[in-house]
Amino acid sequence: MSDTEAIDTIRAAAVLARYPRRDPGDLVNILHDLQAEFRYLPEEALRETASHLGLAPTQVYGVATFYHGFHTAPRGEHTCTVCVGTACHVRGAARLLEQVERDTGIGAGGTTPDLSLSVEEVGCVGACALGPLVLMDGEYHGDMTPERLSRLMKKALAAEEGS
Ligand code: FES
Repeated sequence: MSDTEAIDTIRAAAVLARYPRRDPGDLVNILHDLQAEFRYLPEEALRETASHLGLAPTQVYGVATFYHGFHTAPRGEHTCTVCVGTACHVRGAARLLEQVERDTGIGAGGTTPDLSLSVEEVGCVGACALGPLVLMDGEYHGDMTPERLSRLMKKALAAEEGS
């Protein structure tokens, strides 16, 4: 086991200790807590969860991959989510995604190698009047243009470097 895997196991054990009943019905809640801890679901954590609940690892992995909100690959410190619903698409969502790719080298579903930023697409989030819409770390930014998006990403990443 690598050092990273050993640390992941210890951190996962601390999360699992909050669920002393070892009830398989708590699986989804545990996965939420693990994702809050790691920003994704590391393999070691999924294995520890299976062992804690007395489930087969494939059962745990199956749930982790079934729900769209869970991530089984490392995530960036920041998340830039571009709405590609119909209204935002018509107003230029594709140009926003192109700008993200020009600035970061990654497309939707990707994460920068330094784990600073993940990029996602999402269907309509119900704020079409603000379109085209981008969510930066969950915060809504409407009437987005490629230039403003560039600045928004730079600001988020600069804040990270300064912290
Ligand atoms: S299509 Fe983007 S918020 Fe509705």
